[in-house]
Amino acid sequence: PSIVGSDGSGIVEKVGDEVVNSFLNNEVIINPGINWGDNQNVQKADFKILGLPDDGTFAQYVKVNQKYVYPKPANLSFEEAAAIPLSGLTAYRALFSRANIQKGDKVLISGIGGGTALFAFQFAIAFGAEVYVTSGSDEKINKAIEMGAKGGVNYKNENWEKEFKVTFDVIVDSAAGDGFAKLVDLASPGGRIVFYGGTKGIINNINPQKVFWKQISILGSTMGSDKDFKDMLYFIEKHNIKPVVDKVYNFEQAQEAIERMANADQFGKIVLNF
Ligand SMILES: NC(=O)c1ccc[n+]([C@@H]2O[C@H](COP(=O)([O-])OP(=O)(O)OC[C@H]3O[C@@H](n4cnc5c(N)ncnc54)[C@H](OP(=O)(O)O)[C@@H]3O)[C@@H](O)[C@H]2O)c1
Repeated sequence: PSIVGSDGSGIVEKVGDEVVNSFLNNEVIINPGINWGDNQNVQKADFKILGLPDDGTFAQYVKVNQKYVYPKPANLSFEEAAAIPLSGLTAYRALFSRANIQKGDKVLISGIGGGTALFAFQFAIAFGAEVYVTSGSDEKINKAIEMGAKGGVNYKNENWEKEFKVTFDVIVDSAAGDGFAKLVDLASPGGRIVFYGGTKGIINNINPQKVFWKQISILGSTMGSDKDFKDMLYFIEKHNIKPVVDKVYNFEQAQEAIERMANADQFGKIVLNF
């Protein structure tokens, strides 16, 4: 058995022999992407994620190599900082390192209820993009509009893609599946569609002509490099971004927290306090 959990923020209570003592008592946040390596394009073959198979963060104490530990952004509480690592990193790389988002781009974030989607949304708005969303919940769309979205459409509606009156320079997705073809329709000429998940499974129905004629780039993305993590923390501090924390549970309520996530009731990250 191993202790799961990739995200974490806390205080350094003990250091190894080769780590300077001044590191003790620092308020820190953990990069869960272990062994990315030096290539910014792709991770090394032995890349792994904190929490599997090594013991992760669902515990009072976690042991990680010092190089994966960064100062906690000063503008954030521990609960807010703990919400960032894996999702924030994935969102940052997808938008900036992969899709090469530009100021003023029209951006579509699908499934705004997703943890990573919400970070991508906040980052794109802070960067100066014009951001739209989809969701299976009108309530979540309205929340996104309150947070600065220009508009949103419920992907459960038939022909939902026709409800958008604009096309997009950048589309961020984690659903894939048959709905992905609609994202190709919604991409502007020269658009970039980046995806990091496959909740809805295999994509069987893309019309190649739409992709090559519109010069669309379809980009896969996974977590991020050490540089992406550092750049993301800088970006969060610079723009004073507050992660959306749906609810904080004590560790004893972990089962309840996981059920809330399984029901997709949350808007934002669910955090466990130890
Ligand atoms: N490659 C990586 O590095 C990486 C990193 C993180 C996550 N992932 C993967 O990405 C996926 C999402 O993970 P997550 O933790 O960010 O999300 P999550 O919190 O599990 O949420 C998933 C969201 O997907 C949305 N969704 C469901 N059906 C959809 C559809 N047909 N079209 C568009 N959106 C739909 C829902 O949004 P609404 O509630 O708004 O309807 C739901 O809230 C998972 O498959 C996960 O394994 C990969």
